[in-house]
Amino acid sequence: MKKISGNPFLKKEGGKILIDLIYLEDIIKKFKTPFLIFLENRIRDNIKSFIDVISSEFNDFECYYSFKANFLPDICNIICSERIGANVVGLPELKLALKIGFPPNKILAGGPYMPKEMIRLSIKNQIKEIIAYNLNDIKKINLVAQKFNIIQNICIRVNSQKYNSKLGINFDEKNLLFLERLITSCKNIKITTILSHYSTQLNNFEQFKKNITTIIEALKNFSRIGINVKNINIGGGFPEATIMPQNQLRKIVKNIRTIFEDFNINYEKIYFEPGRYFVGDAGLFIAKILKVSNDRNAFLNIGNHICPKFARCSLRFYNASKIHLSHNEPTTFLGIVPTDQDVLAKDYFFSEYLEEGDKVLVTNTGAYCLTFSNRFPYPLPKIFLIKDNQLKQIFDPDIEKDFSLH
Ligand SMILES: Cc1ncc(COP(=O)(O)O)c(C=O)c1O
Repeated sequence: MKKISGNPFLKKEGGKILIDLIYLEDIIKKFKTPFLIFLENRIRDNIKSFIDVISSEFNDFECYYSFKANFLPDICNIICSERIGANVVGLPELKLALKIGFPPNKILAGGPYMPKEMIRLSIKNQIKEIIAYNLNDIKKINLVAQKFNIIQNICIRVNSQKYNSKLGINFDEKNLLFLERLITSCKNIKITTILSHYSTQLNNFEQFKKNITTIIEALKNFSRIGINVKNINIGGGFPEATIMPQNQLRKIVKNIRTIFEDFNINYEKIYFEPGRYFVGDAGLFIAKILKVSNDRNAFLNIGNHICPKFARCSLRFYNASKIHLSHNEPTTFLGIVPTDQDVLAKDYFFSEYLEEGDKVLVTNTGAYCLTFSNRFPYPLPKIFLIKDNQLKQIFDPDIEKDFSLH
């Protein structure tokens, strides 16, 4: 059986598409497109291959799933059951992580907007670390920690120095001095970790290297003012597992270890915060061709409102109704948002014959599609989870109305 999109849980068998152990045509008979499918076994598989690689290079590492990649409770539940930690950016994600049962000592919480309630809930539950994206948040954290009479561990997010990046703290002399004063006056916090996340979809070591160079620079600056952090958090940024095969991941992770060694950097633990790598290729859309124009523009019944460019997915398109045909004719896929900008892919190799009503399988839509989706007034898709030969509906727009977190 031939794999589709490099995914071992998506196969062609006698002109049919097999999703894990279920034929796609059986699902299509029962449900109207568009819908979204997640593959539980692929998520577990991705986690296993990630941990396998990291554990072969690092003795002391921790891994936190970045909830923003996909915050559906059923997805986060699977990840929790694999004993991965949670990295949450906001109060709704923090509440969800606690509700699902991530142990508080496996939760890292922090983002560009940290309302007092988020700090309070983090400290009350004694989560592992609060991540400070700006220095003023440290004062706020200290005040709440004082009330609870505890010392709160803090991770500082430094600016990755990627061109134009606005996230995280830039440690110029002024900010260093400010931090030095803060740590003398704030007795209820302890700076334990430093974080820099470079970008998503990092596909070569050079990009990881830039991130690590930033971390090393910041560590030096910190030690000048007497802060010796124990742990290093390099964030996420790994592409979909089908895009970054395990041997390539292994090379990158090995190089990451080596660069720290070359610079004689001592640390207790290294943290990773993958999002896309775990869930990206575990999600697929099933859509339908609404119209085909003479110049091979195919209009699908999904669009950038639910499959947004912002998500930066490595989208792949297959004619599920004609999967036996070779896919070698450049085709442009357009969405249903009424703007010329709703282009899903330009000149993508697709079956020469295509017609209205053909079902299209769009792979690698598991990460960030839902997070970045917007409120354009179309119905939300049904969402299913497949494991072996079991299909479970995990979101029904007619009943639940919305999948966003509150
Ligand atoms: C701090 C941090 N960690 C982890 C991630 C997850 O990134 P990815 O899904 O690319 O692995 C992000 C994404 O923006 C992030 O900002």
